[in-house]
Amino acid sequence: SWSMKTFIEIEVEKIRSQVGDRKVLCALSGGVDSSVVAALIHRAIGDQLTCIFVDHGLLRKGEVESVVDTFSNQFHMNFIKVDARKRFLDKLTGVTDPEQKRKIIGNEFIYVFDEESAKLEGIDFLAQGTIYADIIESGTATKEVIKSHHNVGGLPEDMDFELIEPLKALFKDEVRAVGAELGLPSEIVHRQPFPGPGLGVRVLGEITEEKLAIVREADWILREEIAKAGLDREIWQYFAILPDIRSVGVRNEKRSYDYAVGLRAVHSVDGMTADWARIPWDILEKISNRITSEVEHVNRVVYDITGKPPGTIEWE
Ligand code: XMP
Repeated sequence: SWSMKTFIEIEVEKIRSQVGDRKVLCALSGGVDSSVVAALIHRAIGDQLTCIFVDHGLLRKGEVESVVDTFSNQFHMNFIKVDARKRFLDKLTGVTDPEQKRKIIGNEFIYVFDEESAKLEGIDFLAQGTIYADIIESGTATKEVIKSHHNVGGLPEDMDFELIEPLKALFKDEVRAVGAELGLPSEIVHRQPFPGPGLGVRVLGEITEEKLAIVREADWILREEIAKAGLDREIWQYFAILPDIRSVGVRNEKRSYDYAVGLRAVHSVDGMTADWARIPWDILEKISNRITSEVEHVNRVVYDITGKPPGTIEWE
């Protein structure tokens, strides 16, 4: 749109005059805000921007590929992908407490980012996808403290960089419009909210490679069917979880003892309250049939019909 074009032109000029011939670093998470900030700064200064993307192994199916394809192959950015999957999984072995998991994932992210950025030379600026809501929320006491909602991508305060935050006056829908105008694909521009600790809080209890694979496949099927039904822009957030329980089932006259997958889909405005989505039964049935037949070690699917409150959106 006209106003987003103008916004981009003005910000590009500002960034150019602020940065000059110096260099900028950006932590890309694949989320809307960091993606848009990277694309905007790249528009302004091209190769003077370097992006670091930490693959912690807790992303959904297809996400790593989508980020690499967009920023490396299409935008041709200076793009560093760090494969830290093993490192995160090792740190999480034996850990079952949700808050402990969040802490470990958040800290490990900072260590990895620190290490990678230390390898780069002559960086003066750090770009961050802070938006208006982030500023408002951190300035009030209403911010939820039930769960520690630190975003992965929150960076240490003692880093010696000057901050660039070109989105900080924008609302979420404006951020999306800017992203679309900059040529980001719709899967990134319209990405649903996704917690920083990712699948780490959707595999309940201890995280293992096998459990991650199950939740990833089930979640992929859910997303595919929601999109096919044309509900992907209507439902605020939808995902699969893997509770740490197994139950008895039967198939081809054989008894099984396997995992149950939980499905969660909610309508919400800001995540503070939520109502469960009334997904038509035939669509739920299709999803259930596909998950139990396509995902190994799953013999049961349940749908969460709890609002927030009293439930939270995530199960951990
Ligand atoms: P809950 O589960 O608290 O979630 O109802 C509300 C919204 O926040 C997201 N969420 C997180 N986001 N780090 C994040 O960046 C976290 O640790 C975290 N925990 C929950 C959740 O996906 C929902 O959109």
